[in-house]
Amino acid sequence: MADGSYALGTHPAERRRLERQHAIWREETLAAWHRAGFTAGQRLLDLGCGPGFASLDLATLVGPGGRVLAVDRSPAYLDHLRWEAAERRLPQLEVLELDLATDDGATLPDRGGWDGAWCRWVCLFLPRLDPLLAGIAAALRPGGRLVVHDYVRWDTFSLHPSGGGVARFVERTIAHWRSEGGDPDVAGRLPAQLEARGLRLLQARSLMACGAGQDPKALWLQDFLEAYPPRLAQAGFWTAEDQRALEADLAQAARHQAFWVTPALVEQIWERPLP
Ligand SMILES: C[S@@+](CC[C@H](N)C(=O)[O-])C[C@H]1O[C@@H](n2cnc3c(N)ncnc32)[C@H](O)[C@@H]1O
Repeated sequence: MADGSYALGTHPAERRRLERQHAIWREETLAAWHRAGFTAGQRLLDLGCGPGFASLDLATLVGPGGRVLAVDRSPAYLDHLRWEAAERRLPQLEVLELDLATDDGATLPDRGGWDGAWCRWVCLFLPRLDPLLAGIAAALRPGGRLVVHDYVRWDTFSLHPSGGGVARFVERTIAHWRSEGGDPDVAGRLPAQLEARGLRLLQARSLMACGAGQDPKALWLQDFLEAYPPRLAQAGFWTAEDQRALEADLAQAARHQAFWVTPALVEQIWERPLP
């Protein structure tokens, strides 16, 4: 999209949803960075940073002696992050506007100079992965680490029991993202592609979760079910009948015992090996 937007949009309501989402996933995020050895004084990339809620945490982690470069193609998100970084007096945080799905994505600055890269919920939206993966492989120093959080199976997103409204939403959302060149099961393609670029997989773990209605991960799914249907409808993937079926499912879940299962989210920690 010419305005730097993508399937989910970059409007203020979506920015606020990303903020709530980061809060829900923050603990797992900090633990992942710890496992990867991200620490004070390092130079780290946040690729597809969005409004930068994780970038701000990374900048705090590396401290004034480190550097964080937050990269996204959305000028609206980057403006927001620039403003937040100035407000919080985090001069170690810089932003860069780049389309990671075009050849520009392979031109991350300071090749071989980065201790680590963080990339969450971005690969699934890229019509081309190659530029980003080439950019990462070239950007990391030997011994540098990449941490990815992305989905291996988005269609595990489900409500139990359900009358079919949630399943319809999941099926329609996947169809929308695929129509824009995305792949909601992208995590499974990363091992072969990153190995081909000389990286080594150090760890992989599941972040898939399951919870009853008020569990934070269940609330995360319900938040998305409230936010996304208008966008799906706008794109021609959602009807009034679909919406009625979804609302019937949600009403049923509110009145009875039920649990939610998240999309299958996977953490991968990769390393550019020492020579
Ligand atoms: C779901 S948001 C995730 C944001 C952030 N990584 C997080 O975890 O909160 C996806 C982000 O990918 C960015 N994005 C999508 N396509 C992109 C592209 N081709 N190049 C750069 N960024 C892209 C969007 O602008 C958006 O900020």
